[in-house]
Amino acid sequence: MNKLVEIKNLEISFQDFHGAFKAVRDVSFDIYEGEALALVGESGCGKSVTAKSLLGLIPEKDGSIAEKSEILYQGENILTYSKKRWKEYCGQECGMIFQDAMAALNPTVKIGDQIAENLRVHQKISRKAAKEQAIAALRMAGIPQPEIRAEQYPHEFSGGMRQRSMIAMAMICQPRLLIADEPTTALDVTIQAQIMELMKSLKEKNRMSLLLITHDLGVVAGIADRMAVMYAGQIVEIGNSRDIYYRTRHPYTYSLLKAVPSLNGSHGRRLEAIDGMPPEAGDILKGCPFAARCRYCMQICIEECPPKYEFEDGHFATCWLHDPDADISDCKFQTGGNLCNQE
Ligand SMILES: Nc1ncnc2c1ncn2[C@@H]1O[C@H](COP(=O)(O)OP(=O)(O)O)[C@@H](O)[C@H]1O
Ligand code: SF4
Ligand SMILES: [Mg+2]
Repeated sequence: MNKLVEIKNLEISFQDFHGAFKAVRDVSFDIYEGEALALVGESGCGKSVTAKSLLGLIPEKDGSIAEKSEILYQGENILTYSKKRWKEYCGQECGMIFQDAMAALNPTVKIGDQIAENLRVHQKISRKAAKEQAIAALRMAGIPQPEIRAEQYPHEFSGGMRQRSMIAMAMICQPRLLIADEPTTALDVTIQAQIMELMKSLKEKNRMSLLLITHDLGVVAGIADRMAVMYAGQIVEIGNSRDIYYRTRHPYTYSLLKAVPSLNGSHGRRLEAIDGMPPEAGDILKGCPFAARCRYCMQICIEECPPKYEFEDGHFATCWLHDPDADISDCKFQTGGNLCNQE
């Protein structure tokens, strides 16, 4: 598969009243054409900031991307785009949907007009033709009676319908890459599943790539081809979803998986919350960022940053347990096999 996006050594810093801190630390990963890649991790680990950098949304006044960082879109570094190229790229080639559709929609403009306007920003097209396409996009996003709905305002829509409208708005320009940042977090479970199903079918129909961001691994289980697990601004494990689920290689990923009821097959069994808190964004990290919470922590983990180990094709994890000298006799999860049997 061809690479649509290549992120190399991404480092993003912010300035607050304590000084500068790194929200994203040396992150590298690719997004292939037509794949759904899930970026998962606890709140505050740097998922949204990573996504925003792909759309040029890091506020210049308090945030900065390190000079060594590259974000290649079809081989070209977007960080060096001209204003004109940015405008073409955002919306037309890369679309984004957020958790809070209400905040992203204009409350004073009819839904159909907002979607049509988004198209007109990017394409020379008459008002009437844009409106027709907006109605078609609403229909495609599963909104019943789209001709009537197009004439309504956001407050007349339910949460799920608003999220569908956001998807229609993002999809109308037929982007190659859709970034969905916690798109279903505000919705109830049934609607979550419907929205995920919608995104999956649109991805397949349009052969677009999807970057799905979530703190909840259960949400992306049926849709992600690959997963990247983020912790304290770093990617600690990445690989095909099946490898991540069944041949988990990082203790943090393992803890996340055990916290999802539908995945560990343990209805009624106590779910394991991950004890402790992630490091603060401003903390100077020495050694493994997960060390303070890791039940397998060894002396070397506190002293040195773990290197990246490769397992199956394209499956990487940064954890000292994979060093040939590590004692892994007590460590069941990274020996492979089905997660459900690994207690
Ligand atoms: N505009 C900003 N200014 C200062 N700090 C920010 C800004 N945006 C994000 N951060 C900080 O960067 C870190 C990562 O945030 P974020 O990417 O939003 O986390 P996630 O999406 O994984 O929950 C957090 O510590 C957050 O407070
Ligand atoms: S490097 Fe050490 S502390 Fe970090 S996840 Fe692996 S075992 Fe745990
Ligand atoms: Mg976020």
